Amino acid sequence: MKRLVVGNWKMHLTLAEAMALGQACLGVAEKYPELEIVIAPSLPWLVPLAEALPWRPPNFGLASQVVSSNSEGAYTGDVAATQLKGLVQYALVGHSERRRYHHETGASIAAAIQLLLAEHITPIVCFGEMMQSTQHKFSSQITLDLERDLNGLAPEQIGQCRFAYEPLWAIGNGHPASSDYVEQALLFVQEWAEKTYGQRLFLLYGGSVTEHESAAFGRLKVLDGLLVGGASLHAKQFGLICRQFCRTE
Ligand code: PGA
Repeated sequence: MKRLVVGNWKMHLTLAEAMALGQACLGVAEKYPELEIVIAPSLPWLVPLAEALPWRPPNFGLASQVVSSNSEGAYTGDVAATQLKGLVQYALVGHSERRRYHHETGASIAAAIQLLLAEHITPIVCFGEMMQSTQHKFSSQITLDLERDLNGLAPEQIGQCRFAYEPLWAIGNGHPASSDYVEQALLFVQEWAEKTYGQRLFLLYGGSVTEHESAAFGRLKVLDGLLVGGASLHAKQFGLICRQFCRTE
């Protein structure tokens, strides 16, 4: 499986800016065929972007930043997995900003994951601890959310998901976790997942990623990808992150 780099554009960009950046990201995917490149624009830009990019390399995809935990009905402002089908290949689930501002919880996240999988859309489930662990002593705080989010899912379903480790203390503040910290945290998560579900997880890291540390992240065997927020809004910077992440020397 290719390593995955996802650009989370959050609630940024005009339509014109999104179209230009989408085109540039497609170029990044063509340049680095060893990676899978996915962009997650604001919801209303998904359709025009999909229409403007009718031909896409197989390693380029679109993601929704949001999905409802209900299958359809009177849920003003929500979008159903069935409505995203055919439009996106991935959807972010349980991002800390959604948990914080929209009170998404384990049960609703678990339901959203089930609905996405039923439509063959791959969930990217976000999780992470609130406070930095001292001396790399990781506790169940890291996997607490995840355990609730995955409640009721079969191990095969868990195996179909992607997981983004996004420690809250590293998001959006210019201070990413060190590659050493990420490695230790993900080894802890992987061991927990194997013990709990008998599954190896496909693991991304997110939180203030820039081109400066992506080479170090690229060297981590335990890491399968990156979830990039702020730095994914700049085509050149996003391209550099991908370039550094591919480097293995
Ligand atoms: P950031 O965002 O790279 O701006 O920290 C990451 C995320 O929230 O997905």
